[in-house]
Amino acid sequence: MQHEFSLRAEWNTDTTRPHPNRGFSRDVVIQADGPGELRGSAAKPFHGDASRWNPEELLLAALVECHILSYLYVAGQAEIEVEKVTVRGELTLQAGAEDGQVTAARLYPEVWVADAMLLPRARELHDEAHRQCFIARSVNFPITIEIPNQHQMPELPKFSSRLGAPIAVLKPRNAKKPSQVTGNDDARLAAIRAEREAEQQRRDIVTAQSADEPEVPNATPAQSQAAARTAQRTNAPAEQTSFYDQVGGEPTFRKLTAAFYQQVAEDEDFRAMYPEEDLGPAEDRLRLFLIQYWGGPTDYSQQRGHPRLRARHMPFHIDAQARDTWLRFMRNAMDTLELSPLHDDTMWDYFQRAARAMQNQL
Ligand code: HEM
Repeated sequence: MQHEFSLRAEWNTDTTRPHPNRGFSRDVVIQADGPGELRGSAAKPFHGDASRWNPEELLLAALVECHILSYLYVAGQAEIEVEKVTVRGELTLQAGAEDGQVTAARLYPEVWVADAMLLPRARELHDEAHRQCFIARSVNFPITIEIPNQHQMPELPKFSSRLGAPIAVLKPRNAKKPSQVTGNDDARLAAIRAEREAEQQRRDIVTAQSADEPEVPNATPAQSQAAARTAQRTNAPAEQTSFYDQVGGEPTFRKLTAAFYQQVAEDEDFRAMYPEEDLGPAEDRLRLFLIQYWGGPTDYSQQRGHPRLRARHMPFHIDAQARDTWLRFMRNAMDTLELSPLHDDTMWDYFQRAARAMQNQL
C-alpha cells in the first residue's frame, strides 16, 4: 500500500528577518495540514537561527521518532509492556566548501518495562525496531544503534505486575555490541520485507482492535466475528496475492502441521508437554491458526476467539531448549514443502520470531 505525505515550506522576504551582514535570512516556515507550523532555519554554522529547527535536526528527529514507533510495535508483538522509551540521537554532517552530506547517525535507545525480567529481551528488540523503521531503511548513510549500559531502572514498580512477586535483583548487563545497519539493505532482504509488509498491512486490518499479541489476529472473542467478516471482505480483492494462496492454500498448511506433529509424537520428552492424549486437535488448532495468520479463512478465531497465543502458552514450561526443539521440528516440516526461497525465508523468519515470543522461561 502506498501512502503520500505533503507539506509546504515558505521563505519570504517580507516575513523573515533580513540579516544584513549575511546576505539573507535563513528562516523558513514549514506547514502541514495536521500539525500546523514548524519554524525552520539553517544550522548555526550555516548562518541560521539556533532557536529554530534546522534540516539536520529534522532528519535526526525523523529517525528517532520512527525508531520509537517501530520499537513500540515490535515490543507489542513480543507482549512486552513498555513504560518509557528514550532515544538520544547524533548525526554527523561532513561539509566542505562546495558540498556536504550526512555521513552517519547514532541512536542510543533506552527502555523501561513493567516486568524487569523482560528487560534483556526488551533491549534486544531495538535491533528489530531499527530494521523495521521506515525512515532508517530509506536513508543511505550508516546508522549505529548503541544500547547504553542501562542503569538500574528508576521507574520500576516494587512488584512485578506479571509475576505478582517482588522483582528479582537485576544484574547489570554489559552493553550490547553496536549493530550497524545501513539504509541500503541487500535487495533480497528488501524484497522479503516488502512482501511481508504488504501481508502485514492486510493483517493489520484484521488486527486493528489491539496490539497486545505477537503478530496474530487479535480480535477478542466478542469481536472475532466482526473481525472475521472484515478479513473476508479485505481478502476478497487480494485473494490471488495472499501468502496463504501463494504457498498453495490449505493442503500446504495441512502438510506442514502433519509433518510437525509427527515429530512431536515421536519425541517422548517433547510429547509430554502436550496435555491431550490425541494430538489431532492440537494439530488442527495450529493449522487453523497458521491458515488465518497467513491470510486464509478465519476459522481459528471463529472457533477459538482471540488467539492470545502467549497467554495460551503460559501453562507450559517453554525454555530455550523447548523453543529450539519446536523450531527444529518446524524447520524439518517446512523442508517438506519445498517453498520458493522468498516464501521459505518469510515463513521461517516469522516462526523464529514467534517462537522467541512464546518462550516464557530462561
Ligand atoms: C516455542 C516453542 C513452542 C512450544 C513448546 C509450544 C507448545 C505448545 C503446546 C504444548 C500447546 C498446547 C497444545 C494444544 O492444546 O493445542 C500449544 C498450542 C498452540 N501453539 Fe504452541 N508452542 C510453541 C510455539 C508456538 C508458535 C511459535 C506458534 C505459532 C506460530 C504456536 C502456535 C500454537 C497454537 C495456535 C496453539 C493452539 C492454541 C489454542 O489453544 O487455540 N506455538 N503449543
